[in-house]
Amino acid sequence: MILPSHLTVRDGRLRIGEHDTVDLAERFGTPLYVTSEDRIRENFGRLSGALTAHYPKIRILYAAKANGNLAVFKTLASMGAGADVFSAGEVALALGSGMRPASLLFNGSSKTPADLALAVEKGIRVSVDSPDELRQLDAVAGEAGRTVDIAFRVNPAIEVPTHPKIATGLATSKFGIPAGAILDAYREALALEHVNPVGIHCHIGSQILAVEPFAREVEVLIDVARDLIDIGVEPSFIDIGGGLGIPYRRETDRAPTPEEYAGAVMPVFKKGIKDLGIEPELWVEPGRWLVGDSTILLTRINSVKTAHKTFANVDAGFNLLIRPTMYDSYHEVVAANKADAPAVREYSVTGPICETGDILAKDRMLPELAAGDLIAVLDAGAYGFAMSSQYNSRPRCAEVLLAGEKAALMRRAETIDDLTAPMVTVPWQE
Ligand code: LLP
Repeated sequence: MILPSHLTVRDGRLRIGEHDTVDLAERFGTPLYVTSEDRIRENFGRLSGALTAHYPKIRILYAAKANGNLAVFKTLASMGAGADVFSAGEVALALGSGMRPASLLFNGSSKTPADLALAVEKGIRVSVDSPDELRQLDAVAGEAGRTVDIAFRVNPAIEVPTHPKIATGLATSKFGIPAGAILDAYREALALEHVNPVGIHCHIGSQILAVEPFAREVEVLIDVARDLIDIGVEPSFIDIGGGLGIPYRRETDRAPTPEEYAGAVMPVFKKGIKDLGIEPELWVEPGRWLVGDSTILLTRINSVKTAHKTFANVDAGFNLLIRPTMYDSYHEVVAANKADAPAVREYSVTGPICETGDILAKDRMLPELAAGDLIAVLDAGAYGFAMSSQYNSRPRCAEVLLAGEKAALMRRAETIDDLTAPMVTVPWQE
């Protein structure tokens, strides 16, 4: 078993940073999301360093959807991150964490009139996804007597080696405007009074374990920039989105390092802008790479059953981590209280949800397990808690943040009352 550097084993117990996971589970209860603030800081520093080594004008916009806890936002805000935001909730979290409106980009292919009005009111740049949205935004800004800075989201028609549900820049994807039609969109924006085209935006997909598609993406965006200059728009930023993958299967995944990513993307970018004689900022929107490996999900075994195969039935299911069910994603699992015991038997780690697909980890060799043992699901920091639900009327679990020797709740566990609180008795049932 290969572990990332912030996870270690001592006396047979898995540790995260300075903390024993068995103690954390006892102190805070299970299921429990545990996040290392130190690891997020380390990840941010590494990615930022790799990019700025090539070019100084880099801006990192944390992809807020990956992990929506305010403490995570605050960690990243304190390091200078802005955010890629998709909703009013993400705007509130980003601003609440201290990020400035100017360091946000409001993305999305289906923004409501209220979203557009919010961006205008707060002075947040908007990545416009369609000509229809452009006209709506211009009207909303006009009513407010303001002008909004915008980019257009380019659909570059690039295939990427990832799960089809998270490839976003395919010709058939719902996102963005085809590269061939983008110039017309910018021309239309130029003719409108209350939108000011200043940037170019793109995002080709998520969990991409190759660097070459990113380099091709940048080539497409440089071509767009060239056309823009021809029509009198000098882009002040080019946003290449997020998508850099992480090695969920540490034994076999060959994941690009940030240095390799920067090494593939930055020379293409730098040559492109040099040829064009411009010096725009380069924006990136990483989510998974910043927070993915920072977090484990601790879950307790309720029972072990051997039928046609052996199941370890744990107290967290796809209500708390839906990635394995939704994308057949692989997450490493570790027997946290028996972390150096030999792997002797194949188990499927299954949750408490009443669906056959509620499997966190399928057919894994693990030590002999029993009720009460603790399982750690690794790399659960991105799209983990963020995609959790109350399915089966299960309150969501708590989240704990660690920094050095400190450990504290960053979100309390929900209660049964939290489930029913928003429900309203209809008059005829009173
Ligand atoms: N920018 C935009 C416009 C995005 O739509 C996304 C992710 C990102 C940045 C960040 O991508 P990242 O660096 O995290 O790969 N729930 C899926 C992933 C969905 C990603 C959606 N968009 C999963 O669990 O794998």
